[in-house]
Amino acid sequence: MNNLIIAPSVLSANFASLGADIQMLNNSAAEWIHIDVMDGVFVPNISFGFPVIDAIKKLTTKFLDVHLMIEKPERYIQSFANSGANMITVHWEACTHIHRTIQEIKNAGCQAGIALNPGTPVHVLVDLLHEIDLVLIMSVNPGFGGQLFIENTIQKTKSLCELILSKNVKSPMIEIDGGVSDENAQSLFSAGAHVLVAGNYIFKSTQPQKAIQTLLDLGK
Ligand code: DX5
Ligand code: ZN
Repeated sequence: MNNLIIAPSVLSANFASLGADIQMLNNSAAEWIHIDVMDGVFVPNISFGFPVIDAIKKLTTKFLDVHLMIEKPERYIQSFANSGANMITVHWEACTHIHRTIQEIKNAGCQAGIALNPGTPVHVLVDLLHEIDLVLIMSVNPGFGGQLFIENTIQKTKSLCELILSKNVKSPMIEIDGGVSDENAQSLFSAGAHVLVAGNYIFKSTQPQKAIQTLLDLGK
């Protein structure tokens, strides 16, 4: 199976000195940088778009993990690819023709992920698992950093692993996003997660690089 990965969410970074925070991540054990794009329609918040992603891309060679919390993301796939996204994850709930959207992401040269809200069961992925590189399980309702972790996520992660096993497909990576901390990282890794997103836990820490290493060590 793949290595365990920490993906710090820059939503919780200091935007007045974003360059310094990216530099900090460049010198950390985090392999990915998680980029939360919100449109104020799919979720009740607006974050940032292409100019910020372009700027981040210029400052790092880390894998850019772009999480689109936007309606009809198919309108912007090529633009996010042009901005340097390595992974593009769209919400199952935001796409009418999700199979086509996944093909478009792959045709744009990116890896493709599907995110599920806390209220969406894993079995909706049954005819999509063999097409995708990643499943993102939301462990909070999307829209904001710093929310409380939903405990049912542990069981949901195990259910997804069982579904993947039963379908006998090449396993997509499993990513968990929202409220991740040293209190739940070990259970999440044990349940089958490969990638943990963390915003507040890392960026509100006085020693963010140590916080990243702590999460990673909980997977050992
Ligand atoms: C929530 C975002 C998350 C968020 C995570 O809608 O998708 O990536 O930034 O932040 P924390 O770790 O603070 O919950
Ligand atoms: Zn996210």
